Amino acid sequence: MVEQTFIMIKPDGVQRGLIAEIISRFEKKGFTLRAMRLMTVDKSFAETHYQDLSSKPFFAGLVSYIMSGPVVAMVWEGKNVIATGRLLIGATNPAQSAPGTIRGDLAIDIGRNVIHGSDSAESAKAEINLWFPEGDKMSDSMRDVRSIPYIAR
Ligand code: TYD
Repeated sequence: MVEQTFIMIKPDGVQRGLIAEIISRFEKKGFTLRAMRLMTVDKSFAETHYQDLSSKPFFAGLVSYIMSGPVVAMVWEGKNVIATGRLLIGATNPAQSAPGTIRGDLAIDIGRNVIHGSDSAESAKAEINLWFPEGDKMSDSMRDVRSIPYIAR
């Protein structure tokens, strides 16, 4: 099923120069980038994004981490991209993420795990709406690059 998911490169991924590496893994897998924005979020935005975790002991630290610098917010599209994107990302704790996954290859600490990906169709929808409130206009401005014949073959 062709679907969309929300993927975010967290501030540590941006600061460590991992933007291209992470995007490359989604591109090489065959998924299509539909929207992308570099942005820094405030406390209330970060709290909204992680509202389901508000009762957790790590919530305050998580919110200040996400606010600590620019993040790359993206919408990726493709067959089963929500679940397959989570496989590319790897387990939440990089100590348990398999080598070959983004977290398994690029991170050490659970509190600095470089990337976020929606965990269900419901959260993908809510997160895309939160981060890209312009909605359908997004796909007007972000045309599917693969349909544009820039390269003569
Ligand atoms: P969660 O949604 O459970 O994981 P995932 O990002 O894999 O969907 O948690 C959100 C983030 O919260 C997670 O990426 C890292 C942070 N976190 C901690 O700092 N400590 C923890 O014990 C857990 C479970 C998560």
